Amino acid sequence: MEKKKYYITTPIYYPSANFHIGHCYTTVIADSIARYKKLKGYDVYFLTGSDEHGLKIQKKAEEKGVTPKEYVDEVIKNAKDLWNSLGIEYNRFIRTTDEDHVATVQKIFQKLYDQGDIYKGSYEGLYCTPCESFWTESQLVDGKCPDCGREVEKASEEAYFFKLSKYQDRLVDYIETHPEFIQPISRKNEMMNNFIKPGLEDLCVSRTSFTWGIPVTFDNKHIVYVWIDALSNYISALGYLSNDDSLFKKFWPADLQIVGKEIVRFHTIIWPCLLMALDLPLPKQIFGHGWLVINGAKVSKSLGNYRDPREYIKEYGVDAIRYYLLREVPFGSDGQFSEELLISRYNTDLANIVGNLVNRTLSMLSKYFDGIITKSYVQTEYDEDLINLVLSTSQKVDDYMDKLEISEALDCIFEIFRRCNKYIDETTPWVLAKEENKDKLKTVLYNLLASIRIGAILLLPYIPTTANEILRQINTKKITIDTINDFYTLETNIIINDFKPIFMRVEKKHE
Ligand code: MSP
Repeated sequence: MEKKKYYITTPIYYPSANFHIGHCYTTVIADSIARYKKLKGYDVYFLTGSDEHGLKIQKKAEEKGVTPKEYVDEVIKNAKDLWNSLGIEYNRFIRTTDEDHVATVQKIFQKLYDQGDIYKGSYEGLYCTPCESFWTESQLVDGKCPDCGREVEKASEEAYFFKLSKYQDRLVDYIETHPEFIQPISRKNEMMNNFIKPGLEDLCVSRTSFTWGIPVTFDNKHIVYVWIDALSNYISALGYLSNDDSLFKKFWPADLQIVGKEIVRFHTIIWPCLLMALDLPLPKQIFGHGWLVINGAKVSKSLGNYRDPREYIKEYGVDAIRYYLLREVPFGSDGQFSEELLISRYNTDLANIVGNLVNRTLSMLSKYFDGIITKSYVQTEYDEDLINLVLSTSQKVDDYMDKLEISEALDCIFEIFRRCNKYIDETTPWVLAKEENKDKLKTVLYNLLASIRIGAILLLPYIPTTANEILRQINTKKITIDTINDFYTLETNIIINDFKPIFMRVEKKHE
């Protein structure tokens, strides 16, 4: 039987500066969902990338005395290094400067022009002459240019427009008949009431005032401006309108497109209208998540209120960061990021609950049975409750993941480890050892390791390094999802591998 397919995307980020913890947030979440689907047997395509054109990047490069491409190449090298150290398993990192993307955008623009959905008009805006930039009223700071603080003046330039207004009724109808399209539901209501129903205006999709962009083929003093270039990445990456569109045929429409709440608007208005104009199906879901905030302010490049995420990874380990991003903030809401909270999550959940449990259990097995896993027929009165909880977890995780309640799914897996710690308190293995009650002791240690094995497999999508290390220490070969419905799958007469604590409690190392 052909595997079910799953296509998931993140936004493509601006490489105007190195990526920060906010970009890590979206990407780690998408990675965990992709890994979860792979674990469940789906054929997954996971796309992320960078949005490299625009005046801001052109200016940054000029300031540094390099070409825009040289400037972004450096940022992208760091970004790929960051994704690598965060364990991000993307299928493609698309750059809007990639040749195939450029070619597809040009074809899309041409097609829309040929069919009359793009037309020439003039763009009216507030212009800052020294910065050569157009601004809208709301972007101005104290009525002046937000970049240099100088006066702006009304100006107009020739530009191409996309007929967004033509698709308004179809869009409203689609959103109303597809309640799952915009999630969470609060964002759907906001989009409908604040932006779509009041009326859509045609969208300016080209510029002549700067050059760092994709040239319009039929009028090359124009470059394609922002959203047609950026949004098309989700289909150009799969080979749409190219010689080989097999990935496109297989994976489009996307199952899940994750974006931050500030760009939900573009993804639920411009993007679907563009797809309608291209006569393509719409993605099944756009999910707009909340922001990570530091001391009340959004983590952002312009505020510079953050450290390089690679420093956190070096100090606390990749899974401390992944775990924090996945667990701390309910997906959809805003949430705090701070080093104190990161350390506290690390110590209480990772070190105390999982790390301690695995280390205590393996130490006891090593001490009492030379590290050999065995089983006996003697039972304890606490086994049934433990086993029931462990075996019921996978279904609960699936239910949460179906609703993208990732923090809750993780908490539910941790319930296995918490229950194991309680089981140790209930059965007191050290007393059983003293009483030479070896059969009962075997049962207790087997049950603990069997539970830990299942817990570790369930953890694979979220904190893969830790999960794999636990499975390595136990030395089990049963590490696939289809082995977790039978509690007794854990092998006997195997000897555990060398082990050491997976997490050591940490103190804050940085002011
Ligand atoms: N290039 C556009 C997106 C085009 S998609 C076709 C862009 N880039 S960006 O660099 O500004 O990245 C924005 C995205 O990064 C957000 O939508 C979100 O996914 C992520 N985040 C950036 N800062 C964030 C937080 N402080 N908190 C959570 N996510 C954050 O917009």
